[in-house]
Amino acid sequence: MKIVITGGSGFIGSHVADVLLEQGHEVVIYDLDAPRYSQPCAFVRGDIRDIERMTQTLKDADIVYMLAAEANVNRFFESPVFSNDITAGGTLSALEAVRRSGGRARAILASTEWIYGSVPEAASGEYITEETPYAQNPDHLYTSSKIASEFFCKNYNGLYGISYTIMRFGIPFGDRARAETVTPIFIRRILSGEPITIHGDGSQTRQFIYVRDLARGCAACAMPEAENQIFNLNGGKKVSVLEIVRTLEEILGKKAAITFVEDRKGNFKGRFISSEKALKMLGWKPQLEYAEAMRLYVEATLRPPVVSS
Ligand SMILES: NC(=O)c1ccc[n+]([C@@H]2O[C@H](COP(=O)([O-])OP(=O)(O)OC[C@H]3O[C@@H](n4cnc5c(N)ncnc54)[C@H](O)[C@@H]3O)[C@@H](O)[C@H]2O)c1
Repeated sequence: MKIVITGGSGFIGSHVADVLLEQGHEVVIYDLDAPRYSQPCAFVRGDIRDIERMTQTLKDADIVYMLAAEANVNRFFESPVFSNDITAGGTLSALEAVRRSGGRARAILASTEWIYGSVPEAASGEYITEETPYAQNPDHLYTSSKIASEFFCKNYNGLYGISYTIMRFGIPFGDRARAETVTPIFIRRILSGEPITIHGDGSQTRQFIYVRDLARGCAACAMPEAENQIFNLNGGKKVSVLEIVRTLEEILGKKAAITFVEDRKGNFKGRFISSEKALKMLGWKPQLEYAEAMRLYVEATLRPPVVSS
């Protein structure tokens, strides 16, 4: 299949490109930045909001993965208008490009578990499936922008017959992670002896997902069974922030210094999000246990050039 990946030069997108190339697909990376990992595929430098360029790129495409977005929630907080413009606005532009290119390509959106909203940890225990309603009062701009992106997919399906798939990611970790995400920060801090800042008491959990497993899940969403469906693609286990630190201490053989600070506004507390549907319909589940994947990641990170603080 001919598959276009917007944001294919980024953290998750580069792994998705790798998996799709291994599967023998014709891959085109569409991004503002050139691919950094020598993928043997076509590259189109372009802005997701450039509908004409996207329309050209989508000619004869079977699938477009829409991963380009402002993925950094802190930058979203700092620059909401710009961030929404490339996230919800970028999704809308990509969908319009699908329509203008003949409506043949299926649009596969990278969304997030954040769309289920945050609840106090005390109220957790809830088991979330794709049927669980959207957060009624999303408490982060990023969440609202991703909810809008999801609705745009559904609108383009209802109004113009464009097929879609929505993937709701947990928090990915692994090789090529952006330096400002939690795991690389923790690794650098433990190695340099600097204190690790934990918002709240460290008991907040995430279902971390190893990025290579996530990329396999994204690739599985290219299957025809995924048409007009929503899938949670998440880790099988809840991991607390403190547990991340303890796992890294063991792998690195070094104790962490920890500073606890006040909890963040809109910090998703985490309930259990089921990825059963992806297992049942697509045969996908994460292959690696959290600690095992973390070990692989740390090994990759510590290979030269060594990460410095
Ligand atoms: N990383 C996470 O924790 C996480 C969790 C859930 C969902 N997601 C979603 O997954 C997707 C990928 O996230 P990531 O972590 O790989 O992000 P990333 O920042 O590593 O990659 C995003 C890519 O998009 C490109 N891009 C940005 N603006 C663009 C534009 N206007 N036109 C074209 N390309 C543009 C960037 O150059 C970059 O290569 C995003 O949609 C994000 O919201 C990420």
